[in-house]
Amino acid sequence: MFLIVEKIIVGRDRNDMEAFGERGTAFIGKHIVGEGDDAHLTNPVFMDVIRPHTILVTGKKGSGKSYSGFVLAEEIVRQEPEIRNNLAVLFIDTMGIYWSSRSPNEKDRELLKEWGLKPEGIDIRLFVPGGFAKEYEDVGVRVDAPFTVSCSELTAQDWMLTFGFNPLDANGMAVEHIIKTIKSKMRDYSIEDIIYEIENSKKLEAQVKNALTTRFSAAQDWGVFEKRGTPVRDYFMRGKITVLDISHFPRSAGGWSVRSMVIGLLSRKIFQDRLQARKGEEFEVMGGGGKENIPMVWVCLDEAHQFIPTEGETAASEPLLTLVKEGREPGISLLLITQMPNKLNQDALSQSDIVLSHRLTSEADIKALRSIMQTYAAEDIQDYINKLPKQTGAAIIMDDNSERIFPIQVRPRFSWHAGGSPSAIRKRGLLDL
Ligand SMILES: Nc1ncnc2c1ncn2[C@@H]1O[C@H](COP(=O)(O)OP(=O)(O)OP(=O)(O)O)[C@@H](O)[C@H]1O
Ligand SMILES: [Mg+2]
Repeated sequence: MFLIVEKIIVGRDRNDMEAFGERGTAFIGKHIVGEGDDAHLTNPVFMDVIRPHTILVTGKKGSGKSYSGFVLAEEIVRQEPEIRNNLAVLFIDTMGIYWSSRSPNEKDRELLKEWGLKPEGIDIRLFVPGGFAKEYEDVGVRVDAPFTVSCSELTAQDWMLTFGFNPLDANGMAVEHIIKTIKSKMRDYSIEDIIYEIENSKKLEAQVKNALTTRFSAAQDWGVFEKRGTPVRDYFMRGKITVLDISHFPRSAGGWSVRSMVIGLLSRKIFQDRLQARKGEEFEVMGGGGKENIPMVWVCLDEAHQFIPTEGETAASEPLLTLVKEGREPGISLLLITQMPNKLNQDALSQSDIVLSHRLTSEADIKALRSIMQTYAAEDIQDYINKLPKQTGAAIIMDDNSERIFPIQVRPRFSWHAGGSPSAIRKRGLLDL
């Protein structure tokens, strides 16, 4: 008897299937057949990575979301050179967990073996805010580059959203005035220049001056806003994963707003640069010769609901929504990870063409998933989720392209995942892994 193992490919249409076959697909896991104790793994499941996609990864706490997100990133940089060299992955690390990916996943050696795989470290590039690079180096983790964001590229609106000022109140109007004044005087400026401008302003009242200088001085301590920012193309190296660690900003609500500001600015720049690059690529196809541009990009974002929430706006909302709605054309893919799909902006949900959902329990979250996948109205998502085996990494996959929904087990990572619950026992003499 022959056992023919059929491959399942998601996110690829018939034309691309005919043109490329299985090239440019990522091995993400295996199809689960059967329920409960009878459940077993069968056909391998692959995902298209050569076309732009918006992928949503969701699931309750500890169900395997951050892990699954990185499985896809690993696969992109393991593609054949011709493909991976046209792609770059930017992993925005909100929890500070991906630096460990340089080490092979020794703790899952046995599990990997069951899958016919071996532990392997991934040569990531680690970017940490300028002010925090030393913290990493002190515990023995190599930082490839400290990153900074250019102050002069932030708008008055960005600062207001970050500081929680209303554009119509005295503080909001003062920010608008100060940024406008400083922009009329200089092209590149630092936070010190902004503070100088505030302190010497003849227009602002003492109380307002005070409120603004306190906020801008705090922003200076975040160690990221400088006169000159890291050029956007530095974040995208062909065939590589760049991990941008933004976990260090204060853990308070204010911390999320700094992160939003950084992500917002970066998203705007990615969009502009890719639009430009796309023109170059068209020109090349038309026979006009090549030009070195930033490659097609995958932007992966954990805790996405914090940046593009259903309610309210952050400094990242508008730029990220532009990527969600218009990113496909300039070749930008998004991987959005969230524990709470019902807290994620509706447009981000509805634009997702592939959803990987680990176990979810809240009715509101399941309802949010149902609202995206209207074509699957007949299928009960809740039912599929209930039938998933209990182990981490089990998920349902919903593919808008083939209009299919089925359960999978995400494959183990090649590289070390530092995202589990911390252990009281210190391992490797570094941070808790
Ligand atoms: N596909 C998988 N194969 C093997 N183990 C897995 C898999 N996915 C997750 N795990 C295990 O589950 C743990 C938790 O996974 P992960 O950190 O991705 O959860 P999470 O859903 O992101 O949690 P949180 O909501 O806290 O961010 C991992 O440390 C890993 O040990
Ligand atoms: Mg996580």
